[in-house]
Amino acid sequence: MSSLLEAEGLQAYYGKSHILHGVSLTVAEGEVVTLLGRNGAGKTTTLRAIMGLTPPREGHVRIGGVAVTGWPTHRIAQSGVGYVPEGRRMFRHLTVEENLRVPPPTQGRWSLTAIFSLFPRLAERRTSKAGRLSGGEQEMLAISRALLLNPRLLLLDEPSQGLAPVIVDEVMRAVQRMRDEGTAILLVEQNAILALAFADRAYVLSDGAITHAGPAAELAADSEKVKALAGARASRAA
Ligand SMILES: Nc1ncnc2c1ncn2[C@@H]1O[C@H](COP(=O)(O)OP(=O)(O)O)[C@@H](O)[C@H]1O
Ligand SMILES: [Mg+2]
Repeated sequence: MSSLLEAEGLQAYYGKSHILHGVSLTVAEGEVVTLLGRNGAGKTTTLRAIMGLTPPREGHVRIGGVAVTGWPTHRIAQSGVGYVPEGRRMFRHLTVEENLRVPPPTQGRWSLTAIFSLFPRLAERRTSKAGRLSGGEQEMLAISRALLLNPRLLLLDEPSQGLAPVIVDEVMRAVQRMRDEGTAILLVEQNAILALAFADRAYVLSDGAITHAGPAAELAADSEKVKALAGARASRAA
């Protein structure tokens, strides 16, 4: 299986705090992989290490077989990686449409029209200021901005965080459609049951180390392991 993303032996620090202790994971073309773990396990740091925002002190990141370790974040993004960070940063004083016109247009499946068909809610609110959107609409906008760059791989950091269940379903249906369109996804979630329902494979991160790797269905069927992820929310309710 050819890996689109290969992270190998990532060691990451914030100052003197050693956070990631040799994290390795892969995402194949078109695959949805979830990275689970309790709050503070190092999930966000793993995504930041992959994007070069918290460059790993040791280890390697390859995108489509190309070593991108040490590259600046914008170059890693240009190599085909979209990143939707926690907290949905956006230009609050710009409208939805203005936010979506910030990324330079790229060739590919995800045009403004395709985005508005993926998220009809955003189409309805295209002239609203981003700062006035609901949490769910802001998440959709943040995902849309990343998609407009037509990435081969999308890194999503806790898209369900703080959203009502009905909105989470809408966001996850969109994740499903992105996958159907061939975008590979690395989905970080605290909501294990939700993420396992969508993913092909799963990794569990604990104290900066991978403690489990395998098919998502297998982990979903292991109620003890899923429960152990709690602290992580083990239910679909937000
Ligand atoms: N900017 C930072 N400076 C110092 N420590 C940090 C910083 N960000 C996160 N940490 C610490 O790193 C660990 C992993 O955090 P994080 O990757 O955000 O975990 P997760 O996303 O799984 O909740 C936590 O112990 C957290 O307190
Ligand atoms: Mg996090």
